[in-house]
Amino acid sequence: MLIISVVILVSLFVMFYFFKTSKEMPKNWYEWKTELRFQYIGAIGIIHDLIYASRDKVVLCTQPDRIAVITGGNRGIGLKIIEKLLACEMTVIMGCRDPKAGEKAVSQLVDLSTTKGKFICESLDVGELSSVMSFAKLVKNKYKKIDILINNAGIMFAPLQKTSEGFESHFAVNYLGHFFLTHLLMPQLKAAGSEGKNARVVNVSSVVNLIGRINYNDINGDKYYYPATAYNQSKLAQILATRHLNQMLREQNAHVEVFAVHPGVVDTDLFEYSATTAVPFLKKLIFKTPERGSRTIVYAAIDPRLEGKGGSYLSNGGKSPFHPDAKDSQKCAKLFKFSCDLLKITEYGNDII
Ligand SMILES: NC(=O)c1ccc[n+]([C@@H]2O[C@H](COP(=O)([O-])OP(=O)(O)OC[C@H]3O[C@@H](n4cnc5c(N)ncnc54)[C@H](OP(=O)(O)O)[C@@H]3O)[C@@H](O)[C@H]2O)c1
Repeated sequence: MLIISVVILVSLFVMFYFFKTSKEMPKNWYEWKTELRFQYIGAIGIIHDLIYASRDKVVLCTQPDRIAVITGGNRGIGLKIIEKLLACEMTVIMGCRDPKAGEKAVSQLVDLSTTKGKFICESLDVGELSSVMSFAKLVKNKYKKIDILINNAGIMFAPLQKTSEGFESHFAVNYLGHFFLTHLLMPQLKAAGSEGKNARVVNVSSVVNLIGRINYNDINGDKYYYPATAYNQSKLAQILATRHLNQMLREQNAHVEVFAVHPGVVDTDLFEYSATTAVPFLKKLIFKTPERGSRTIVYAAIDPRLEGKGGSYLSNGGKSPFHPDAKDSQKCAKLFKFSCDLLKITEYGNDII
């Protein structure tokens, strides 16, 4: 049954590549193989979402003294995360590229004049390190403690594009910008956490980490670029960094824990460059809604039962298997050091700005 469902789904997607979408066709065997592996792992993700639907929930509770920072959030899953955090009466600081539009989007969902939560929207392009720096400075000046950092913003299958610092856009937006932001906000996270009530960092990764590979010889896709390869690499990088950072913080006896989450396969604009745009009815039928997609992320951010379980990768309200490299502390440390070197960080979480 499972195999038949997977085969049907994969065949459907492949058919639509040919007939229905403007998505660029894979040009060679490597690209086809990458594409098929992506669709296969996506289908497994959908089946996981169906099987564990009843486990996929979060209990909201009021926490008016807590402060949460989230990247993205003006649409998609992030918008629903913000709705939940405001329902918990938290102060929520959203970093997004167009703060006016972001505020409008949130105000259409939550009555900001009556909510007991507090909402603040600031400018942030997470792919630009200078913007990450300005955003972090602003947040640090206003708030001495931050309880929750949700690294949510992301792009998928974007055509080759470099940031002004020369990084490939998936690597920069999904991974490196968030790695830098976490570093800059670490003193505030450490200040907020306490014994039995750790501050939390939640990295919104993806099930495709399982088919990712960190290509140290061509991290920015200069020699060969394929969008799915770049996306998978960035999502694996998030997992490896989650594992290393959590271990590092544990050794420092810091009261901060780091989680990675796969939100499920969710019907959002993330699929803009994907073949699934050709089958909107199928997306509506079998993908999660953004509301469901937000549940495990908020669960990772607030559920007291996760105290002491930092370093976990969660999906559908429970632990999930991740890429074998994430179990290898040397491989996690290698990426962590590589990232610090790229950003010229000498002591992660401690450099002064
Ligand atoms: N949807 C899924 O099935 C799925 C599955 C696995 C993982 N995820 C992950 O879940 C996260 C949220 O995705 P989503 O499905 O909600 O996608 P989405 O609807 O496309 O939302 C993406 C969000 O990221 C923001 N963003 C993109 N580039 C940015 C940048 N340079 N600076 C600041 N913000 C930026 C977008 O803001 P703008 O409006 O400014 O572009 C938007 O708020 C992503 O990390 C994604 O990889 C999603």
